[in-house]
Amino acid sequence: MGEVKSSSLAKMLLLGIFFVLIVYKVFKSYHGYPKVYMGQPLPPGPNWSLPLIGHLYLFKANPIETFMEMAKQLGGIFMFDFGPKTTVILLDPDLIDQAMKIDALPSRPLKEMESQALIRGERNPDGSLPGIAFADGTSWKDQRKFAFSQLISLGFGRNVDIEEVIRSECDAMVQKLKQTSKDGTVPVIIDTNNFIGNALNVVWHFVSGNPVRMSDELLRVPQHFATIFSNIDEAHHVPGSENDAHKKSFDPNLVRDFIDAYLKKIQDTKDPTSSFHEQRGEVNMRNSMFDLFIAGMDTTATTLSWGLIYMMKWPEIQVKVQEEIARVIGNDTPSLNHRSKTPYVEATLLEIQRLACIVPWGPRATLDDVQLGPYVIPKNTHVLYIIQNLTHNPKFFPEPNHFKPERFLSDDGTKFIRDERVATFGLGKRKCPGENMARMELYLFFVTLLKNFKFRSDVNPREINIEGDLGLVLEPKPCSTRLEIRK
Ligand code: HEM
Repeated sequence: MGEVKSSSLAKMLLLGIFFVLIVYKVFKSYHGYPKVYMGQPLPPGPNWSLPLIGHLYLFKANPIETFMEMAKQLGGIFMFDFGPKTTVILLDPDLIDQAMKIDALPSRPLKEMESQALIRGERNPDGSLPGIAFADGTSWKDQRKFAFSQLISLGFGRNVDIEEVIRSECDAMVQKLKQTSKDGTVPVIIDTNNFIGNALNVVWHFVSGNPVRMSDELLRVPQHFATIFSNIDEAHHVPGSENDAHKKSFDPNLVRDFIDAYLKKIQDTKDPTSSFHEQRGEVNMRNSMFDLFIAGMDTTATTLSWGLIYMMKWPEIQVKVQEEIARVIGNDTPSLNHRSKTPYVEATLLEIQRLACIVPWGPRATLDDVQLGPYVIPKNTHVLYIIQNLTHNPKFFPEPNHFKPERFLSDDGTKFIRDERVATFGLGKRKCPGENMARMELYLFFVTLLKNFKFRSDVNPREINIEGDLGLVLEPKPCSTRLEIRK
């Protein structure tokens, strides 16, 4: 009898503890985050972080709009639980500016780096990831610096003339569009896939010096940014065989391209701790090449497709662009020398990048406790800075959802005025090192296409849907297009 009593007492006690734990958990999730860390205030955050999903249930269709909505209550910096992982969301332009200058912030979030480690299967001996985009610490700094110096000196002192390379891709683009539209008699679909091969070929040629257009081979398996990650072995295979060919013909006194410059760097590196040293250098070279391909193809191709779709939605702007091209370039082949003489085209291109904002956020993590405005962000916290809150901020760009190239023109319309708040290449120490190449490509691709074709939508321009789909970049929905060949 006494035994029965004590076992039901134990059950009640367990139930009681369980109940208290549940109440505590609910209370804690309602009350959200602690208010201070080491005696300093933490950014605020929403209540009700649920087990496993955190605050993800708050997301509406477009996560950026969710954040902008939340900022109205919480301010321009707040915490948000992506599942169990707390992330600081940074929207306030002044705080973004401050954050980008802080040395302890250029790191990438651990979660992304772990998934990359699984995909790449290779690490540096200190555990950091090889290459650029997901690397960290000294290895990242050195690899980035090297790639950046190569991307800045594009085509100088070597036998890859990047402008020529882009021009030959322009010709290929025009031929392909003429073919698929049967000389403008059948509609074609404009989307990112149309131009991925061309963007990839430019990077490929820059890296390998090889004029053979490799995109078909590389793209045979991975049709798309997302799928390329699941086929990394095949994607690595092509650069791998090119590296072997380069080693056979390598002459340190005749650097022909990125691979040669890298091989020379490996040869010159005697410090065994360097990420360019011997075997470690080779691993980093493969991964840097891979990063250039991945980062350089979808981004440029997507921006270009957005541009053509906007030209269909705002045909009056297409007409102005084409008038300027006809007046300045006429029957000549478009070249980078025309850039300074075509302010309306330049302003239109910047407005395309602003409105599309294809990479709306930048992921970071703190390497140390960081003081930002009135708040402290503890070491190892993920931080997401929202680029779109610069490009679509009505304080900087009134009527931010309207397409107005005039924003970037002088009052008399004769001068193009760049605005650094169109931060579509990111900000701070991890800003895109391929910006120089991307701007050259966008200019020549866009001008060549608009010189050769008039783009007309199959539907009423006002009905063209310009809401994008957010994957790794914000892509436009495919748009059925009638091409008119311009004489
Ligand atoms: C319109 C075209 C492009 C856009 C909009 C773009 C945008 C960006 C953005 C927003 C970032 C991240 C910045 C951050 O984390 O704060 C980035 C990083 C990067 N981009 Fe681009 N990019 C473009 C083209 C290119 C090209 C052509 C290349 C090279 C061939 C390239 C190479 C890279 C690399 C290697 C990184 C990683 C940098 C690092 O982690 O240090 N990008 N890009």
